[in-house]
Amino acid sequence: MSGLFHVIDTRGFDRPLLDQLCALTTQVRRLAKATDGARALQGLLPQARAMLYFPQPSTRTFLSFNNACHILGMRTSEIRDPATSSEVKGESFDDSIRTFSSYVDVIVMRTPEAGYAARAAALMNRIPRPVPIINAGSGKDQHPTQALLDIYTLERSFALRGGIDGKVIGMMGDLRRGRTVRSLCGLMKNYRDVRLVFIAPEPFAMEPDVKDDLVRHGIDFTETDRLAGALPGLDALYVTRMQTEWDTAGESSTMDYRQFSIRPDNLAMLPREAIIMHPLPRGPEIDPAVDDDPRAMYWRQERNGMWMRVAILLKIFRLEDRLFELAAGLPPEGPDPA
Ligand code: NCD
Repeated sequence: MSGLFHVIDTRGFDRPLLDQLCALTTQVRRLAKATDGARALQGLLPQARAMLYFPQPSTRTFLSFNNACHILGMRTSEIRDPATSSEVKGESFDDSIRTFSSYVDVIVMRTPEAGYAARAAALMNRIPRPVPIINAGSGKDQHPTQALLDIYTLERSFALRGGIDGKVIGMMGDLRRGRTVRSLCGLMKNYRDVRLVFIAPEPFAMEPDVKDDLVRHGIDFTETDRLAGALPGLDALYVTRMQTEWDTAGESSTMDYRQFSIRPDNLAMLPREAIIMHPLPRGPEIDPAVDDDPRAMYWRQERNGMWMRVAILLKIFRLEDRLFELAAGLPPEGPDPA
C-alpha cells in the first residue's frame, strides 16, 4: 500500500469525510472571493503538477479540475485526444499511466472504460514513485467527484432544513447507463432516513447492483415510470440525460420526453422548497425555460464543482488543516452568494 488518497469509487466514503469535504469547499469559496484569500490559495501548491488525462469528452469536469488546479497555484498538463499520445503507437494503458506519473504529482482521468481508474490506482501501489489517481468518470460506472459536488449542492440547498438527512430525492432519466446517479446512490448510506425515487421507463431503470447495494444498507427506494405522480413528494429532482453514446441500436430514441422531462407546465407539481439538479450537459429533459425558476439549481451545482474539486485536491495533498487555518482569518460569512 502506498498510503495515497485515491478517489475512485464513492462506496468507500464515510460521513466524516463527506462533511469535511463540504466544509472545506465552503471555506475555499470564501477564501477565493477575498483578494488576500485568493492569493493565499495560489500559494498552497505552487510546486505541484497535475496531469489531466481526458480521452473521453468533457467540458465541465475538465474545466473545473483545470481551474481548481490553477486556483491552488498548480500547473497542469493534458491529453484530451488519444490520437496525440503514444497510445496510437500501441503503448499500453499501464505504461501510459506510469509515464504520466513520472512527471506529475496527481493524475485526473476520464476514460470510456469502467474500472480503469481503479486499475491505475492499483498500478500506483506497485511502482516506486506513485501519485494519487482521481477518477473523473469511468465508463458507465462511476463519477465520484460529480457525486461529491452533488452532495455539496444538496447539503447547501437544505442547510436550513436539516441537510440531506430525511429528504426524498428523485432521480430521473437514463438511470441504467448514468454514472452520476450510480455514484450518488453509493453515498446515500451516509445520510439518515433518505428516500430515493427512481423515475425512468423500464429499459432505462436503475441497475440491480445499485439497488442491491441500497437494500444492503437499508436505504428506502421506489421505482416508477410516472413523473407526475412522484413530483409532489420530492425534496430534490436529479435529472439526467440519455446516454446516447452507449446506444447500440438507437435505444435513446425510444425515450418519451413528454413523460420524462421537466417543463414550465409540470413544474407547478414540484414543492416550492424543492430543488432541480442536473450534472449537465442537458438534452430535452429540462426545458431551458425552467432555468428562471428559483428551484433550478444546476448552474449553481456546476459552479460548486470547481470549489469541491479544489477541496478534493487539498485533501489529497493533506492541506485541509492549513486551509481551515487560512479561512479562520477571514471576517464572518455574510448571506450565501450564488
Ligand atoms: C456527466 C458525465 O460525464 O457522466 N457529465 C459531467 O461530468 N457533468 C453527465 C453526462 O454526461 O450525462
